[in-house]
Amino acid sequence: MNQQVTKICRDFIPELNEAIGSQSPETIFILTDDNTQRLCLPGVLQSEKLAGSHVINIPSGDEHKTIDSAVRIWQYLSDHKATRKSLMINVGGGMITDIGGFAASTFKRGIRYINVSTSLLGAVDAATGGKTGINFAGLKNEIGVFSPASDVLINIDFFRTLDDSNLRSGYAEMVKHALIDTRKEWDEILKFDLENINFDELRELVDRSIRIKERVVEQDPFEANIRKALNLGHTFGHAFESHSYKVNRPVLHGYAVMWGLLCELYLSHAKLNFPKDDLLKLKYMIKNYYGSFYIDCNDYDGLLELMTHDKKNESAEINFTLLSDIGEIHINQTATKEEIFECFDFFSGC
Ligand code: GLY
Repeated sequence: MNQQVTKICRDFIPELNEAIGSQSPETIFILTDDNTQRLCLPGVLQSEKLAGSHVINIPSGDEHKTIDSAVRIWQYLSDHKATRKSLMINVGGGMITDIGGFAASTFKRGIRYINVSTSLLGAVDAATGGKTGINFAGLKNEIGVFSPASDVLINIDFFRTLDDSNLRSGYAEMVKHALIDTRKEWDEILKFDLENINFDELRELVDRSIRIKERVVEQDPFEANIRKALNLGHTFGHAFESHSYKVNRPVLHGYAVMWGLLCELYLSHAKLNFPKDDLLKLKYMIKNYYGSFYIDCNDYDGLLELMTHDKKNESAEINFTLLSDIGEIHINQTATKEEIFECFDFFSGC
């Protein structure tokens, strides 16, 4: 799989023009959602290369990352005579880059697409690495293909439209990248001031964070082994996220990942002797910036059930990525029900 290199733009429009120009497309289709159509599309349309392009808009929110929305995109492409030489430009967060990448990669067996990531979460995670997909039968990203974008462009200025919660949601994936990389990255990420965001500093950290992901994806694009490092925090995290929807207390993905990281570092400490000091540093940071999510022992079986159905599992056992230290990755780890419940106890007592 050819990997694109994600660009953190200094001068967005010329860099977008260059990315479009290098594809020499016959027609261009821009995919937005209700939010990015209002907040980001005007900035993108400054590009003279987009005169005469078509805009496809779908409702925002992960609940719309569905086969119905994909059909709507394919229908629009078909009605407007898209060809194999057409180009899609996905302008949005992870929901738009996932579904846009999927629709593009399957239309006429695949047309090229560019991701313009407008959320911090999307920029440091979904936009890069070639995973595309939609939710199906109540499961996240159940249907999809590995198919990298031709280009991924990040314009930090779009992040200025994000509220604190969405910035914190994205920051969680950056914390995950630091944990699987080096102590230097871990120390740097912990220093970042989430109360007073410095966008120049954020730009630098986003760049480093994306390079960590790219290095992992380059080694294992189809997630046969080391790419599973990127699942750190996500086994518990996805269960918290799905549970939050079930109990009508929805949380942002990154918040669930942050709480998942806490549980999985606790499990790492219990099973692999991950340093307690680092676990406590994470706990302290989460307490200050993310708060907690109320669960009690009546929720444990339901959460365990959600973890059992996670598509990251390769057999009947729940699959974890754990750490024995910062950057010391152990994939394909398992845990007993008792060990998992102990993590819930630790989490609910936080
Ligand atoms: N979101 C994790 C990955 O791209 O593998």
